[in-house]
Amino acid sequence: MKITIMYFSPTGTTKKTLKAFGQKLAEVLHTEPIQELDFTPKKNREREYRFSNEDLVVLGLPVYAGRLPNVLKEFIGSIQGEGAMGVAITLFGNRSFDDALVELRDRMKENGFRVLGAGAFVGEHSFSRILGKGRPMPEDLEKLSEFALAVAAKAKEENPDTGFAVAGEVPYRPYYTPRNMAGEPVNFLKAKPLTSSACIDCKLCVKLCPMESINYEDTSLVSGICIKCSACVKFCPVGAKYFEDEGFIGHVQQLETTFLEPKRNQWFT
Ligand SMILES: Cc1cc2nc3c(=O)[nH]c(=O)nc-3n(C[C@H](O)[C@H](O)[C@H](O)COP(=O)(O)O)c2cc1C
Ligand code: SF4
Ligand code: SF4
Repeated sequence: MKITIMYFSPTGTTKKTLKAFGQKLAEVLHTEPIQELDFTPKKNREREYRFSNEDLVVLGLPVYAGRLPNVLKEFIGSIQGEGAMGVAITLFGNRSFDDALVELRDRMKENGFRVLGAGAFVGEHSFSRILGKGRPMPEDLEKLSEFALAVAAKAKEENPDTGFAVAGEVPYRPYYTPRNMAGEPVNFLKAKPLTSSACIDCKLCVKLCPMESINYEDTSLVSGICIKCSACVKFCPVGAKYFEDEGFIGHVQQLETTFLEPKRNQWFT
């Protein structure tokens, strides 16, 4: 059996979680080394991924507006399981994973994976440095180890149960509506990050943008779609990227006052 971890992770929490999970799983199943496929860069979503019944694939995605990221729908649908065992993992920023986990489990089943487990884990929120601050932390990784042990036990069974229940509603609810402090719905779909004069033109943001939307010649120009993943904001070495959009700022304030209580990780097998 060969273990592959596959993830989209602009700010790194999904990647960290999947790496820890994959390593534990490989250790228990004696199947090191594991294969790692990072499809955050756009170019890595332009090829085909096909597996077989000798593979165990851990697929990880962040939760965007309570669901799987809309821009990745087509790519996710293109991953072919062909009888491979699968594990679905979603990372959420301490608000809620709503229907994203059940959606990922369903998509994997449709794509021909025999899904053994599904887990939703907390990661620092893309929009904030205080919501889910620093997570996944060592305590989260311990919980992840328990989940890996449960999946490893199922992987050794002849006919593992793939019909287990997962938190979330079917039919899935619509994308979560962001609100401001007054409870009014806000729409910041068109918001793009701005760039301050502190920019040293290192081009890191150009390299990190999963949509290849930041202009190489003039890094203050966001010429393509912005999914608000916040990679450019969080990783700019001089803190030059920021959002100024009123609706976006208002929503972040609302999140940071309403969802500070640490949420728990949940997994299902
Ligand atoms: C557009 C967008 C929408 C998000 N929606 C939610 C949400 O509905 N619930 C939640 O708890 N976190 C939400 N988050 C936070 C991410 O799920 C979370 O920060 C995740 O850990 C980021 O993964 P990454 O570090 O691998 O990029 C959202 C983030 C973005 C960018
Ligand atoms: S990462 Fe920051 S400093 Fe580097 S080019 Fe982008 S905005 Fe400028
Ligand atoms: S421009 Fe938008 S999509 Fe690109 S890295 Fe920045 S926040 Fe993410």
